[in-house]
Amino acid sequence: MIVCHCQNISDRDIHAAIDWMRASDPATIITPGKIYHALGKSADCGGCMPVFLSTMRSNGNLEIPATLRDLRSPARKEA
Ligand code: FES
Repeated sequence: MIVCHCQNISDRDIHAAIDWMRASDPATIITPGKIYHALGKSADCGGCMPVFLSTMRSNGNLEIPATLRDLRSPARKEA
């Protein structure tokens, strides 16, 4: 399914980019901009962002690395 019509990016392209980035760097934070960059493209109109983000969230490799979670938590400051 084509997600970004401006840049002809499919859901499979997004998943492949996420999987590649996670395999390359387990601690990286994956953003839409990084996905565009990994695919050699850049966003144009931005109209695809809701579906683009939804597609990203459906990928199990998107989750934030454990070491970067809850950085604002008061309990974490005390530790
Ligand atoms: S549809 Fe994705 S940038 Fe326009």
